[in-house]
Amino acid sequence: MHDEYSPPAPQPLAPAPQPPAADTPPRRPIRSFVLRPGRMGTGQQRALRELTPHYVLPFKQHPLDAAAAFGRQAPLVLEIGFGMGDASAVIAAASPEVNFLGVEVHPPGVGALLQKIDTGGLRNLRIVQHDAVDVLTHMLVPHVLAGAMVFFPDPWPKKRHHKRRLIQPPFVALLASRLAPGATLHLATDWAPYAEQMLQVLSAEQSLANLADGYAPRPAYRPLTKFEQRGERLGHTSFDLLFRKR
Ligand SMILES: C[S@@+](CC[C@H](N)C(=O)[O-])C[C@H]1O[C@@H](n2cnc3c(N)ncnc32)[C@H](O)[C@@H]1O
Repeated sequence: MHDEYSPPAPQPLAPAPQPPAADTPPRRPIRSFVLRPGRMGTGQQRALRELTPHYVLPFKQHPLDAAAAFGRQAPLVLEIGFGMGDASAVIAAASPEVNFLGVEVHPPGVGALLQKIDTGGLRNLRIVQHDAVDVLTHMLVPHVLAGAMVFFPDPWPKKRHHKRRLIQPPFVALLASRLAPGATLHLATDWAPYAEQMLQVLSAEQSLANLADGYAPRPAYRPLTKFEQRGERLGHTSFDLLFRKR
C-alpha cells in the first residue's frame, strides 16, 4: 500500500503524457490510523447491532444539528480517538450537563463504548464512526465546541510514519477553529517525543493559549485508562496539555 502517488519516470519515445482520466481516483490522503480487522466480542457485536440507531450518528458532509442529535441544547465537547471508550464513559457520567461527541474509526471500540453507554445509562454521549479530520471539516462548524479532548493518539514512533501523527499544525488549526472562545483543548500522551511535538505545535497555534507552564498536571476528571496504566508499568510518564481558545 502506498501513501503517496509518484508518477512513473518518462520513457523515451513514449507518447505525450495524457491528463488523468476523469475517473482516476483522487490521491489518498495520509491518515492518522490504519484500520486493521480486530476481533469483536459478541457483546460488542450486539451493542453495535442494537444501539447504533440510538447513539451512532452517521457521518455527513454537512453541519451536525447537535440539539436534534442529543435531544437538548447543551455545551458540546468532542473526544477524538476514544479507543475502547474507557475515559469517555467516566467523563460523560461525571458531567451529565454536557453533550459529548466521541469520534473513533475502530469498530470494536465503537461497540465497546456503546456497551458502556448502555450499562451506564449514559444519555449525553453520541458517536460518529469516521475519520475525525472529515468530521471536523464537514460536521462541526467554527466555534461550535465548548471543549475537545485527544487522549493518547497513536504515537507513530517510526520516523517514516511521523507524517501520520494527528497533532500537526494544519490539524490543530482546524481543531482550534471549531472551538468557541474560552473552550479548553486537552491532549495527553505517554510518548515523550510526541509530547514535545504537541507542546510545540499547540504553542505555535496563535488562537490557543497554554493554561499551564509547559505540561499540565493531570486534571482529576481524566481517569487513568488501561492503556495508560500499561504505559506506566513500562516506565512511561504521561503528559497532559491544556490550552484555552483565545
Ligand atoms: C492509541 S489509541 C488511544 C485510545 C484512547 N484514547 C485511550 O486513551 O485509550 C488511538 C485511537 O485513535 C483512533 N484514531 C486515530 N486516528 C483517528 C482519526 N483520524 N479519527 C478517529 N479516530 C482516530 C484509533 O483508531 C485509536 O483507537
